Amino acid sequence: MFDFLIYLFIIYVVVYLVVFLIFDCDLETGFYDKFGKPIGHLRGKVVFITGASSGIGEHTAIALAKNGVKLVLTARRREELERVKRACIEASKTLLSQNDVLVIPMDVTDFSSHKKNWDYAVRHFGKVDILFNNAGRSQRAVFETIDMGVDRQMFELNTFSVVNLTRVAVNYFNTVGGGHIAVVSSIAGIVGVPYSATYDGTKHAIHGYMNALRSEKTGRGLSVSIICPGPVSTNFLSESFTNTIGQKYGKSVQPTDRRMTGERCGHLCAMVLANKIRESWVALSPVILFTYFAVYFPVSFNFLIKTIGPERLFKLRDSQELTLQEAYTKSRKE
Ligand SMILES: NC(=O)c1ccc[n+]([C@@H]2O[C@H](COP(=O)([O-])OP(=O)(O)OC[C@H]3O[C@@H](n4cnc5c(N)ncnc54)[C@H](OP(=O)(O)O)[C@@H]3O)[C@@H](O)[C@H]2O)c1
Repeated sequence: MFDFLIYLFIIYVVVYLVVFLIFDCDLETGFYDKFGKPIGHLRGKVVFITGASSGIGEHTAIALAKNGVKLVLTARRREELERVKRACIEASKTLLSQNDVLVIPMDVTDFSSHKKNWDYAVRHFGKVDILFNNAGRSQRAVFETIDMGVDRQMFELNTFSVVNLTRVAVNYFNTVGGGHIAVVSSIAGIVGVPYSATYDGTKHAIHGYMNALRSEKTGRGLSVSIICPGPVSTNFLSESFTNTIGQKYGKSVQPTDRRMTGERCGHLCAMVLANKIRESWVALSPVILFTYFAVYFPVSFNFLIKTIGPERLFKLRDSQELTLQEAYTKSRKE
């Protein structure tokens, strides 16, 4: 009997490991992707997207456009937004016309513009159904070297802009009887990954705000989704903050890097919106497996981290060697 239970346990663990090596998302998201509502379920809805001029925001917009979802595209670069608008209309294969995709140039750290731009979108379409908070920037830096000014700027962009725009949207959704808020967080919002402490902090904070909002509005027609991507092929790395104000990390993602494609991530984000998934983890293996370990077996995960070491973890994330620590140590010696 005891042997039988041991065999069952081994089979259970093996099946789980194999599943995580195949899936590029958590099991719930994977299930909805195969058997849930299709993205076309959102046809005719209006989605307000921040950070739509590139990367995950752009690919989510295209995945939604293919299914006839009307879009509000926002970011700072107007010409890039116009390019994404053209791509969306083309991808929609006549489901969308010029009037169905609205471009609003907007810096999300200018909080005074949030309500004005939201109201403009509502006037244009007669409604907005979903807010997709996606704009954000990462960071590569050694913890003890980070300028507090960088911490403040990153919280303004990754956290407080999301909080303020979400408040504008929730106030609107209260008046129309419901709506859906989605936020692009990160696996770094669940697990403390090394060499991007401020970024981790901004994304962890998002989980606190959004989980509180969800519990406060339970049964009141408001859905809240948090999407946590692992490494995705976008401009993200070069745009990352460092430890110094005004500096960008500048390293590019290489085609050979182990990262999810922007298209696949955009598809999964759109699918999360269609199925109102509460929290979704989106990453290639072994990042998904690591995340399950970190959340469900924290003691084993700590042991694993000690064994692997922060440098190798960094390489797993960026597919590039760590140069930050060496650079910092060198500068201290000089
Ligand atoms: N790529 C990854 O590996 C990864 C992993 C986990 C989480 N994420 C999250 O995914 C989200 C999107 O990142 P991405 O990978 O798609 O990077 P990306 O290609 O660099 O896109 C970032 C977007 O944010 C916009 N943005 C940046 N600062 C802004 C500001 N002040 N006001 C308005 N828009 C601003 C950018 O547009 P403009 O420059 O035109 O303003 C751009 O459209 C971020 O929240 C990020 O934390 C990405």
